[in-house]
Amino acid sequence: MTTTVLTKEDIDWGNLGFDYKPTTYRFVATYKDGAWSEGELITSQTVQVHEGSTSLHYGQQCFEGMKAQTAKDGRVLLFRPELNAERMRQSCERLSMAEVPEELFLRGVKEAVRANYSFIPPYGSGAALYIRPMLLGTGENLGLRPAPEYEFRVFVSPVGPYYKGTGLSLIKLAVTDYDRAAPSGTGAVKVGGNYAGGFIATKIAKELGANEALYLDAATRTYLEEAGSANIVISLSGNRLITPLSPAILPSITRRSVMQIAKDELGMETEERPIHFVNEFSEFEEMGACGTAAVISPVQAILHKNEWMYMKNSREGVGPVMQKLYNALTQIQKGERTDPFGWTVEVEL
Ligand code: PLP
Ligand code: COI
Repeated sequence: MTTTVLTKEDIDWGNLGFDYKPTTYRFVATYKDGAWSEGELITSQTVQVHEGSTSLHYGQQCFEGMKAQTAKDGRVLLFRPELNAERMRQSCERLSMAEVPEELFLRGVKEAVRANYSFIPPYGSGAALYIRPMLLGTGENLGLRPAPEYEFRVFVSPVGPYYKGTGLSLIKLAVTDYDRAAPSGTGAVKVGGNYAGGFIATKIAKELGANEALYLDAATRTYLEEAGSANIVISLSGNRLITPLSPAILPSITRRSVMQIAKDELGMETEERPIHFVNEFSEFEEMGACGTAAVISPVQAILHKNEWMYMKNSREGVGPVMQKLYNALTQIQKGERTDPFGWTVEVEL
């Protein structure tokens, strides 16, 4: 373990985008002959794997996305990290990979954050330290079978907002002709193969004037699923908040938290259910795209079949429901108020 140096890098924290910025250390553990190594901090940004690795050929890899934030009193906070550990376990199960034990996952995350203390954006900067735990199938291989070895790695990078703009800015989404995930495919786990296929949809969405692609269900193209990097929540009249129920979307930790805040703190009636996009759209008051990177990004409009469809309460600006949810969530994440749910976990420095 390294000794934490309590100084900060000379970085223009307020102008960071969502880009890779090299930091000093990453945590790496390897799985070989049926056992995990203890894991260690290293400095190399490069992964060395066998040319036959399943992660390179057959997409046998998975990852997670989390953030560490500095609280006003200087504490460094993670947000529900045990849920990321559990989701990576589910990804491992789905892709027949060696599972990363929760203890190893959490230790790797905390060590990578602690060792890169100087890169954790200060309180009030609007930036956060993005954490990318990843698991790769490695080792000599050719045929279609799970890897004999694995590398678990956690790297971090200071980041600003995912979508251009600062704080809460309205975004637009576009439905393209591409599907993200099949009902019994891998959509519900966080694996690289779910993303490469979406690059073209994102490119088209951007060319059409949107920030990102929005996906409908692959089987019928009628029900709402999720955006390329975020789940969807929708407010309806009568203090209701709904979110799509589907076996093909990633179970977002941000979404689960937002739904609970809506129910327990805003007294909203919440429901996870199939949402028919065209038939129900006229009822949508506000929509939010939620995820670690996206936080809650209010959605102003959706392009569908060449027509821009606007949310009732977001034409002029950010609507009140998304604003309240954003405030409640980010205040908990940044330790600005008491954490009634016990969601934040402090990284001891
Ligand atoms: N959906 C997809 C496809 C994602 O990549 C992400 C980001 O992780 C999310 C949803 C949001 O999940 P979470 O809130 O756990 O970050
Ligand atoms: C996240 O929100 O953590 C993501 O992984 C989204 C995207 C950058 C893939």
